[in-house]
Amino acid sequence: MQNNWSNYLGELISEKRYLVGAVTAILFFKIFKNWLEKILFFKNVPGPIPLPVLGNLHNVMMKGFVESDYQLIKKYGRIVGYFEGSTPVILTTDFQLIKNVLIKDFNYFINRRVIESLALKPADKFLTNLKDEEWKNARTIVTTAFSSGKIKLMSKHIADCSEALVNLLDNIPDEERKTDMNRFFSGYSLDVISSCCFGISTNSASDPENEMLIHLSRIFQFFTSGNLKVMLAFFFPKFSKFFVENNLIEFFPGTSMNFFKNFIDKIIESRKNKQEKRNDFIQAMLEHEEIKSILENEMKNSENTSEDSKFFKWNKNLKKTLTNEEILAQSMLFMFAGYETTSQTLCFIAYNLAMNPSCQDKLFDEIETILKIIIREKFDYDSVIEMKFMDQVINETLRMYPGAVRFDRVARQDYEFNGIKIKKGTVVTVPVRSIHYDAEIYPDPYEFKPERFDGKGKKNRENVCFLPFGAGPRSCLGMRFAIIEIKLLLSLILSKYRFEKFEKTPVS
Ligand code: HEM
Repeated sequence: MQNNWSNYLGELISEKRYLVGAVTAILFFKIFKNWLEKILFFKNVPGPIPLPVLGNLHNVMMKGFVESDYQLIKKYGRIVGYFEGSTPVILTTDFQLIKNVLIKDFNYFINRRVIESLALKPADKFLTNLKDEEWKNARTIVTTAFSSGKIKLMSKHIADCSEALVNLLDNIPDEERKTDMNRFFSGYSLDVISSCCFGISTNSASDPENEMLIHLSRIFQFFTSGNLKVMLAFFFPKFSKFFVENNLIEFFPGTSMNFFKNFIDKIIESRKNKQEKRNDFIQAMLEHEEIKSILENEMKNSENTSEDSKFFKWNKNLKKTLTNEEILAQSMLFMFAGYETTSQTLCFIAYNLAMNPSCQDKLFDEIETILKIIIREKFDYDSVIEMKFMDQVINETLRMYPGAVRFDRVARQDYEFNGIKIKKGTVVTVPVRSIHYDAEIYPDPYEFKPERFDGKGKKNRENVCFLPFGAGPRSCLGMRFAIIEIKLLLSLILSKYRFEKFEKTPVS
């Protein structure tokens, strides 16, 4: 009997061994097959050999995106093929390919890469994450909130926030004037978005303990921490989605996301009940019936490029309006997309001006001249539009410090470019930071030279050499808004103050 049992047990163990052996062999075979497929994936596109499973993830993990992009382009040329985990990526600084992807053949490349674990409710409806027809409809509707006319109306709210900030600076005692401007610019940026999106004044510039500011900085910590979670989300999207859905990992702090959701929900409800009406983004998104006529007007008076008018044409037969859920999502997105980008740009402008006093003098002269022409002590939309040197200062700062160091599009069909096949599902990445520091396009790229953006400087370059806001129909929706926001504050501050470096200012 005992013998029988031990025989049986022995057979079971050896059967189990076979089973484990077979599963391991199948797994190795799959990994090997998958690896071979990766190696053979990019025909006639140079690039580093991928590792099994990781692809070329180790490069990015060790060096970060900026350095890794720079080195890949330097080593393999303007079109490089490699793998981020299991995702095939074409990294390119070839201007014709960039133009085709972003503009000419945009229909092949409408969508961005969506990281599933970062696009769970309500972020699944963010414009940045929407795809195909759903994106086209939402973008057309939301565009009306950013028409020149609407921005001009909103500029009054922005000017109020600028004045409030300068009043705050006026009250800083002399001995405290050596200060980090970051907290003022962050507060200003949030105040502008709250006022122009939701019609509320947050006064966060004067109150660093403001609840909204604290929740926003918690959400942004995720992006700035450069942690392993970011890598996991990017390179192993399916794993990370599983972890998030099972509450094993939290990417964005749930309490902060809920805070904004509840806050915006209440505002939408009160607008729908017509308790309040105001010139702001939410009102524009709620007023569906006006949308078609605004769009038609925008087309008639458009200074838009031909690509933009193509975009408006596609959407002539707009059928859909935004649901409550979509309005909520876009409002949250405006807050996230407009907060850090704008405040960081203001910080870098102040830094560049402090480090380059002669440029600051020139900018001051421009502001003074316009102040004299319009003969009033206050700047508005029309006067800041005239400030051309200020545009150059902003552009040169965005060249040196672009908020997004890279962005991408996904091929939704197979596509061919000069004999190179870009298969459906491949991500095409545009390394903005590498392009902006390409010495062939921008000689002495580490130097601050606003004259690169005067008429003569711009003439010698392709448009896609400068991409702080992306390009084509899917470029930044808030670009004109952000520029007005920056110009109004800067003109007001510089008409009274100078930015100066001090002991703690880092020298790059
Ligand atoms: C200096 C400030 C800003 C910078 C540097 C910036 C940069 C960008 C970039 C690089 C993109 C991706 C473009 C592409 O894929 O081609 C983008 C998209 C976007 N931005 Fe901005 N942005 C700024 C301010 C704002 C503001 C103030 C708002 C709104 C209030 C905003 C709303 C958006 C939206 C909604 C998208 C997604 C567009 C779509 O997918 O259709 N941005 N931004």
